[in-house]
Amino acid sequence: MTVPVLTFFNNKGGVGKTSLIYHLAWMFADFRKRVVITDLDPQANLTAAFLEDDQIEELWDMGTPGSTIYQSVKPLTGVGDIAEPELKEITTDLYLLPGDVGLSGFEDTLSAEWPNSMGDNNLYRPMRILSSFWQVMQVAAAKVQAELLLVDIGPNLGAINRSVLVATDYVAIPLGADLFSLQGLSNLGPTLRSWKGLWKKRLDNWEVSVESKQFPDFQLPSGKMQPIGYLCQQHGVRLDRPVKAYDKWVQRIPAVYREAVLDEPPVANLKQDQDPHCLATIKHYRSLIPMAQEHRKPIFNLSSADGAIGSHAHAVADSRKDFKLLAEKIAAKIGMQV
Ligand SMILES: Nc1ncnc2c1ncn2[C@@H]1O[C@H](COP(=O)(O)OP(=O)(O)O)[C@@H](O)[C@H]1O
Ligand SMILES: [Mg+2]
Repeated sequence: MTVPVLTFFNNKGGVGKTSLIYHLAWMFADFRKRVVITDLDPQANLTAAFLEDDQIEELWDMGTPGSTIYQSVKPLTGVGDIAEPELKEITTDLYLLPGDVGLSGFEDTLSAEWPNSMGDNNLYRPMRILSSFWQVMQVAAAKVQAELLLVDIGPNLGAINRSVLVATDYVAIPLGADLFSLQGLSNLGPTLRSWKGLWKKRLDNWEVSVESKQFPDFQLPSGKMQPIGYLCQQHGVRLDRPVKAYDKWVQRIPAVYREAVLDEPPVANLKQDQDPHCLATIKHYRSLIPMAQEHRKPIFNLSSADGAIGSHAHAVADSRKDFKLLAEKIAAKIGMQV
């Protein structure tokens, strides 16, 4: 049995991806669904949301094998093998495999092994390296008996992200309502399909290799990469821009999502708020966001002691409803009982 991997992905930054994962992880943990989050963005914003700067600095300075996702895969850049990941316990049902700025140093190794994995022999090492994120995450999930692996990644289509997507069962796509998000979406869909196809070739090549008989217990990710929908961010909207501008872009999303991501014809006149592929519209939470960051909590856990009083208290209660609904919707899409 392997644990499903859900990745939030968009090749455009600043669309609220990291904040979303942070909040969803807390919500799943509230449902008593044990989650391991892996921060696979070398910018490590998600790690910074959970840990104090001093803690992060110590992790990076010590460089203990397994202490971050990079430290888990780093031995593969030499002659070593994966180091067992050390998780940070946030709550009983929430664990973090910290990110690492050093992770960008793994990009070249992944790029080099990609063609090697299509050779006729010596396939074990390239396949082990290309699937290393998945291998590490599965070990992490098994260590704490997690039911779900959540992943945050950076906004690009490089070799690190290709390996993350190879490890991914379900993809959720956060979007802003602007030209850049729509353009990003147009590139993302075909890229996902291409990666899926290329990984399938590698799995087929592995299947018929001599080494697959030598390593019968070696498991590989299936490269499912199933898109489960998109999320629209209202907060990305520039406040000086008219509502009409938001509407113009947001109403184009259903068609672009179908054409680019699902490779299906668009549905005529389908509005974003009626689109079954739209998982949610994420509200602009304004001052609750810095308040939550300061207290290292999701906004829906803010209390009056944290400063959430009056209208803020109502907004906190509303945000709990919104994130609960979203978490339930996502659970249904990935076949997880909550
Ligand atoms: N719902 C929201 N309302 C208001 N601000 C938000 C919201 N979600 C994210 N932000 C802010 O927007 C910025 C980008 O969000 P982030 O989650 O880091 O995006 P990404 O991971 O896509 O780059 C951050 O400063 C974050 O605090
Ligand atoms: Mg981010």
